[in-house]
Amino acid sequence: MCGITGYIGYRDAFPIIINGLKRLEYRGYDSAGVVLYDGNQINLSKTKGKVSDLLKKFDSDTSKVGNLGIGHTRWATHGEPNDINSHPHTSQSGNLVLVHNGIIENYNSIKQELIGRGYSFQSDTDTEVLVNFIEEIKIQNNVKLGKAVQIALNQVVGAYAIAVFDIDKPDEIIVAKLGSPIAIGVGKDLEEFFIASDASPFIEYTRNAIYLEDGEMAIIKKRREVIVKKIDDDTNVDAKVQELQMNLGEIEKNGYEHFMLKEIHEQPRAITDTFRGRLLPEEGIIKISGLENNMKRFLNAERIIIVACGTSWHAGLVAEYIFEEFVRIPVEVEYASEFRYRNPIITERDLVIAISQSGETADTLAAIKLAKSKGAFVFGVCNVVGSSIARENDSGVYTHAGPEIGVASTKAFTTQITVLTLMALRLARAKGTMTSADYRMYLQEMERIPAKVEKVLEMDAKVEEIARKYLLSTNCLYLGRGYNFPVALEGALKLKEISYIHAEGYPAAEMKHGPIALIDDRMPVVVIATSRGHYDKVVSNIQEIKSRSGKIIAVVTEGDTVVRDIADHVIEIPDTEEALSPLLTTIPLQLLSYYIAVMRNCNVDQPRNLAKSVTVE
Ligand code: F6R
Repeated sequence: MCGITGYIGYRDAFPIIINGLKRLEYRGYDSAGVVLYDGNQINLSKTKGKVSDLLKKFDSDTSKVGNLGIGHTRWATHGEPNDINSHPHTSQSGNLVLVHNGIIENYNSIKQELIGRGYSFQSDTDTEVLVNFIEEIKIQNNVKLGKAVQIALNQVVGAYAIAVFDIDKPDEIIVAKLGSPIAIGVGKDLEEFFIASDASPFIEYTRNAIYLEDGEMAIIKKRREVIVKKIDDDTNVDAKVQELQMNLGEIEKNGYEHFMLKEIHEQPRAITDTFRGRLLPEEGIIKISGLENNMKRFLNAERIIIVACGTSWHAGLVAEYIFEEFVRIPVEVEYASEFRYRNPIITERDLVIAISQSGETADTLAAIKLAKSKGAFVFGVCNVVGSSIARENDSGVYTHAGPEIGVASTKAFTTQITVLTLMALRLARAKGTMTSADYRMYLQEMERIPAKVEKVLEMDAKVEEIARKYLLSTNCLYLGRGYNFPVALEGALKLKEISYIHAEGYPAAEMKHGPIALIDDRMPVVVIATSRGHYDKVVSNIQEIKSRSGKIIAVVTEGDTVVRDIADHVIEIPDTEEALSPLLTTIPLQLLSYYIAVMRNCNVDQPRNLAKSVTVE
């Protein structure tokens, strides 16, 4: 959570930092702030609210001059979102300025010590404590900023990505990382440097970036160099400059009103990209190098444990059905946050799959570390290349969905399911748990999925029309069975997170064990009733709801006549194998929540209280 950006070089820092913050707002949008240094004085402006609010304040208050600057967009942890708690924070002397993404867990004891030495604090944040702690160390030890940062961070417990500068040294910014990401964009001829939580803020200025590893810091010297060091022992690190693959078009809305809608419509392309080079139906081949290189591990595993959070956890639930059916291996799906704290039984014969779009989710990262410490092999399914989780795993696979900026996950979910399905098919072949005829049939059907998703997206206007009827609902139930039970959970999560309507997902048959009591003529019930999945049973569930006056929105297979006669609304999707149906049934549910949220005037891309990358536990 929280986004950091910074610049040091020969250009005006202001537009670079503001545009960077806008691109990083997905990481948090409780408050925003920028500080610029023009060589004489610092110009600092910060405010509760979004970057757009900050811009207004900047216009009226503050100079925009300076070739050095740092900025921050916040997801509040310590201290409520208000102007004072916003970053950047300055030290008591006013000489040091710092932005921080993460949590300093022992900030209170450091704070008390600093108070004892005469420091006073304006904000409730751990960050103000950190900047003063660095200043105190700098003064007491009579050292340069870099050394003071290093000494301070060796005493800090928690997670951080920081950027800090000293107004006495306007040609230098120090950054450091532990648990939260930070990238350094390296400009042409080392004339300028960019700093950001991910590379999107500087993509139009440079394609060269250094990603700091945990426990590393960098001293960035304008027009000279970047020195990367280990924080614990001060040794220099030979940091690799990586070439960025991201395109500007991927991080802009491209004519869509919201990133979420753009990302929903990108799914045929995203799924195709996930297949690329991996699915070869003509040859009857699935090739995923991370899997091929570790085939023995997978084939010898006695159990697969999937760890993830939120939408990624739902993709894990779909994978449970697929792996157990195709590969005949027991699968357990765990919330990473529960797994990491409940002393789970894990052995070397377990294989853990960690799923994460961002690759930064703190609980998933901790679950991976725990599993590795017990000897399990950990395989990651991540979207963000080079992310912390991607680096922490023993091996893994990228989904290649492209940047997902809308806070509500859409294409990440379908591409996670895509890659997990490919893995299950490949393993089923290797294990002999699927006939070669079925295997080939699935490969061919997988290849047809993007075109079928395209077809579902043609329902967009129809779903919008249905959304209009339910925009004032206060509750909503989602029901599905088998492979589509996790889709019901995902549909409910999408609705609640962006429209703030209370929604629950249930296995359809569970309804009569409690939730049916909620049904009345004001309760919309979204039911996934595709023709191949326990269809008759789901039809009976629909009848049960109808007899209690519930309103049915049914997702059915093209040509369905039975549900059409009972339901209030039907959304038709193309026929496919039941195991692959989540890739289609999910789409109308994404559109439904999108349109309901838009009609309720909710901020779809930045729902309240949420952030895209949950780097705190
Ligand atoms: C919901 C959503 C979240 C994430 C969860 C895990 O739309 O986006 O529930 O799925 O925070 O995030 P990742 O996949 O980045 O680990």
